[in-house]
Amino acid sequence: MNIGPIDIDKPLCLAPMEDVTELPFRVICKRLGADIVYTEFTSSEGIIRDIARIMKKIEICAKERPVAIQIFGGRPEAMEGAAQAIERLNPDFIDINCGCWVKNHVARNEGAGLLRDLPLFESIVKATVKATKLPVTVKTRLGWDENSIIIEDAARMVEQSGARALTLHCRTRSQAHNGFADWAWLERVKKVISIPLIGNGDLTTPEDIKAMFETGCDGVMIGRGAIANPWIFRQARHYLSTGEIMPEPGIEEKIQMCIEHLRLNVQYKGERYGVQTFRKHYAGYLRGLPNITSLRGELMQCTQLSQVIDHLNKYLESYHYEKV
Ligand SMILES: Cc1cc2nc3c(=O)[nH]c(=O)nc-3n(C[C@H](O)[C@H](O)[C@H](O)COP(=O)(O)O)c2cc1C
Repeated sequence: MNIGPIDIDKPLCLAPMEDVTELPFRVICKRLGADIVYTEFTSSEGIIRDIARIMKKIEICAKERPVAIQIFGGRPEAMEGAAQAIERLNPDFIDINCGCWVKNHVARNEGAGLLRDLPLFESIVKATVKATKLPVTVKTRLGWDENSIIIEDAARMVEQSGARALTLHCRTRSQAHNGFADWAWLERVKKVISIPLIGNGDLTTPEDIKAMFETGCDGVMIGRGAIANPWIFRQARHYLSTGEIMPEPGIEEKIQMCIEHLRLNVQYKGERYGVQTFRKHYAGYLRGLPNITSLRGELMQCTQLSQVIDHLNKYLESYHYEKV
């Protein structure tokens, strides 16, 4: 699959996720086999005003390449300015979010709001493509609701407007994250475009990933499945190439990866905020390990890196002690 100079067969992409796919998590997923990673969605209005808090969201590093910066907006002029400003950060490509379902965004014609207004959607894509030499891609949904599924028209328009790939979260805006992603649409959309199609929605196992590739899509994108299990990329690649399910990572590897990820988070955000915002990741790293209820409670109380590391090391020691 090609996006500009990127050429990867059947890429496994890490989905953009607000407050989750920050630089430390992207680096960890990359190490565990993600082929392409995306920043969380970032406001074009914030980028053109060079707001420090917003610019922090789109910091990228060499270790995570290829990496896309995802932006959103409801004004073509702001998208144009943001695309120009992003060029100096030199991501591998820019992705446009046309799928966020959240009320205050759609009210400003941002995200999935564009699914109600194809001419504006088109202007947004065209303005972004025209503003930059970087490849531009689009991530969207099936349509506004089940009565207005317009993805085939939208997909054609996205291609004709110069986008280099389309990611489809196979839900409507009104579904938000509820119900099921309807992968049958991938096959239909694949028939109407010649740019690469990346499928997204409800991938949690290597078997799911294989099944989604069987719809004919060129790449797949994993969101919540990677929060629950960042090893999913390695497991899926192994399954796709051998047909065998890899054993789960061992307890040492899980604890060591958790500590490494936390250290990166602290480096990136400072100690207090880094430890506090890491809490959402414990469930994924501790998944499947024995007797973790009290450990989880203790980790939730920690405010310092050394406290977390102590708790995790003590847990590991007691695990080995009880085994002997
Ligand atoms: C916590 C969270 C934050 C998200 N933030 C974004 C975002 O910033 N940009 C975006 O395009 N989609 C965002 N999404 C949607 C995901 O990228 C993805 O399309 C959706 O979760 C479906 O994929 P999944 O079933 O693999 O999770 C977010 C989803 C979650 C759960």
